[in-house]
Amino acid sequence: KAVAIILGIESSCDETSASVCIDGKVINNEIAGQDIHEQYGGVVPELASREHQRNIVPVVNHVLTHAGINVKDLDGIAYTRGPGLLGALLIGSSFAKAMASSLDIPLIPVHHMKAHVLAHFIDDPKPTYPFICLTVSGGHTQILRVNSPTEMNILGQTQDDAVGEAFDKAAKLLGLPYPGGPMIDKLSKEGDENKFSFAESEMPDLDYSFSGIKTSILYFLRKEVRKNENFIDENLNDLAASIQKVLISMLMDKLIKAAKQENINQIAIAGGVSANSGLRERLEQEAQKKGWDIFIPDFQYCTDNAGMIAISGHLLFQEQAFGKLTDSPLPRMPF
Ligand code: KG4
Ligand code: ZN
Repeated sequence: KAVAIILGIESSCDETSASVCIDGKVINNEIAGQDIHEQYGGVVPELASREHQRNIVPVVNHVLTHAGINVKDLDGIAYTRGPGLLGALLIGSSFAKAMASSLDIPLIPVHHMKAHVLAHFIDDPKPTYPFICLTVSGGHTQILRVNSPTEMNILGQTQDDAVGEAFDKAAKLLGLPYPGGPMIDKLSKEGDENKFSFAESEMPDLDYSFSGIKTSILYFLRKEVRKNENFIDENLNDLAASIQKVLISMLMDKLIKAAKQENINQIAIAGGVSANSGLRERLEQEAQKKGWDIFIPDFQYCTDNAGMIAISGHLLFQEQAFGKLTDSPLPRMPF
């Protein structure tokens, strides 16, 4: 058959998602989120597994029905093998294996972080290899040199917290609900980013460190709240904007360095934090100055989604990079 129809399944963290990719075109991307974690201020792994278990059948059914695809038309099943929460990965991978085995079609294991990068091949314009990708999520912060769908080199990465984690922890200090990253973004729009200044952490080469910044925000807020107990409420927008400014500035410094080092002017961003409007703006400014071609995925393909798994499945299907029914999920899947 000339046209490949791939079902993609994502369940690494707290979104149960399924998507269909027909001949390289992602035509449906269904996502069931999990509000249950909000009251705990972070993802509770056991609850995530239970929600995936509840959602996976309806989500897959829904996406196939919407796409007008019968299961018998499928040519392959792509699923997130890792990295992620083990219990969450187990639901998606067991489901994918059962389906591939009963239909007797290839099973395509996908690396979640590589899939964030390959989300750039869902819509036009698409980058050409090699390109640089800054992948920024709640669990990872990496600068990659992307040579092909399978070959990606890590040029630098965080040695402690991910930048999404830094956004979320800072938001928590401001009393905002989890995940606070999008709230910081929203509040920043009405804030003065130069009102407060937080020192950037210094790291050698292209690596990052985001844990120090959280501590400096904590100490700063403690000191100010002692003087004025309404300090946070009265300065919420300016605090959010100032925090966002320092985090973006740290991200951009190393990205600029990486582009120069590799002599590449195709620059992409991926992962949940690439939804951040301040980061998008800074990237556009830098592109103007440096003559970069920049690539930012459509919003729905920035945060966790199965569209990126389905397109990865499509690209890997071409290379016949198939997995086995005996493969187990890998919570710390190596790159
Ligand atoms: O890629 P993702 O959906 O999940 C994984 O971690 O794999 O990323 C989620 C992270 C969270 O930390 C969330 O706060 C952050 O992305 N995030 C944002 C924005 N949207 C999502 N951070 C800042 N600004 C945003 N607009
Ligand atoms: Zn992710």
